[in-house]
Amino acid sequence: METRSQWGTRAGFILAAVGSAVGLGNIWRFPATAFENGGGAFFIPYLFALLTAGIPLLIMEFTMGHKYRGSAPLAFRRMSKKTEGIGWWAVMVSFVISTYYAVIIAWAMSYAIFSFNQAWGDDTESFLFNDYLNLTVDPGQTGGFELGVLIPLLLVWAIVLGVLFKGVKKGIEIANRIFIPTLVVVFLIIVIRAVTLPGALQGLEAFFAPDFSQILSPDVWVAAYGQIFFSLSIAFAIMITYSSYLPKKSDLTNNAFIVGFGNSSFELLAGIGVFAALGFMASQAGVAVDEVVAGGVGLAFVVFPQIINEFPGLNGFFGFLFFASLVLAGLSSLISICETYIAGLVDKFKISRAKAVAFGGGLSAIVSLLYATQGGLFFLDAVDYFINQFGVALIGLVEVVLVAWFLRKLGELKSHANEVSDIKLGSWWTISLGGITPVVLGVMMYQLFTQNIL
Ligand code: PHE
Ligand code: NA
Repeated sequence: METRSQWGTRAGFILAAVGSAVGLGNIWRFPATAFENGGGAFFIPYLFALLTAGIPLLIMEFTMGHKYRGSAPLAFRRMSKKTEGIGWWAVMVSFVISTYYAVIIAWAMSYAIFSFNQAWGDDTESFLFNDYLNLTVDPGQTGGFELGVLIPLLLVWAIVLGVLFKGVKKGIEIANRIFIPTLVVVFLIIVIRAVTLPGALQGLEAFFAPDFSQILSPDVWVAAYGQIFFSLSIAFAIMITYSSYLPKKSDLTNNAFIVGFGNSSFELLAGIGVFAALGFMASQAGVAVDEVVAGGVGLAFVVFPQIINEFPGLNGFFGFLFFASLVLAGLSSLISICETYIAGLVDKFKISRAKAVAFGGGLSAIVSLLYATQGGLFFLDAVDYFINQFGVALIGLVEVVLVAWFLRKLGELKSHANEVSDIKLGSWWTISLGGITPVVLGVMMYQLFTQNIL
């Protein structure tokens, strides 16, 4: 049997974990979420969720992976025989996400190329849905492949499976060592350019203007926790898997703080860049900023192309940089999601990494081809909705209730983390995970279910 793979350096692990965390969630999810939930006032629930749930859970997942030395299913099994299923549940959610995350990266690749001559024209919405995705057919008639999606999608999988095939140190670590510093540089260039555009200040004012009127609404708190979980890749089996490759003497707590604050800094930077650009667009169109705010697919593939159309010079270059940053952020996250089931298969069936990549990664790649067919976007929407509603927060809640309340493992995990770290975990950590997080998440899930049923 092969011995467990290991990261080459501490920086390699941190870059890989940051690479997983920094993704589409930072660039297109955070800015609109913050804006819609109180702007500047959103930072209160957001920071609360980061400090009482995000970072504490990150420490917990790092410690579980490190102490039990296994991918999520194996780590859970070693903690308690009966809980292996939780690990597989998280792995399944990651599998589903990987099938459509890949597609969005493929679109961003196409759009990076379209940037050079603004191939999307003036009506960017019609271009996306009609010309590029060909959604004029309905799902029942799903027939041919859209080559504009299929070709970049195959490229995405070639890169991701190639990296994973190379292994932890020679593949994942090296890829992140290249992607993440490049991403930071590219993104800084874009943000600096964005804040110096005419109208940028208007956008920033709209973003940071605090609206305290909704601060007590549960929806706002739900949004803050949801953002933190998704953004930090918590409860997806990822961070457990990545930390299982750490050497014995590793400062888990310190690493979690670096990853947590690193991800949030990137998020804030993205908020500033996106809203500066939206302010520019609003001032060009002579409308208020809130009329142009968008998130998700609409922001990246409809609104941003319009902004690039109106850019005062070097349109193609800045458009390319924007979509390239989506590609880099996306690839490093996709690699981490896929590693959860590859590691899971290796640990469970004692097969080689090559076989696990071919089988697990191959299956995900094949499923993702469905979205590259005409009308495929209908599936993507349905899957995304389901995952966001029932995947993330629910696993997070189950995970923390199980570890803190049923198995009562917090004490053991705490001493494990404290063995090496110079930041000693104390009552802040125990109270956050044993008290605050399960209660708040419980209320949040209750809200989600009632909103869906009523
Ligand atoms: N954390 C990533 C982001 O912010 C998203 C992600 C979620 C990545 C789950 C992997 C798994 O975009
Ligand atoms: Na993130």
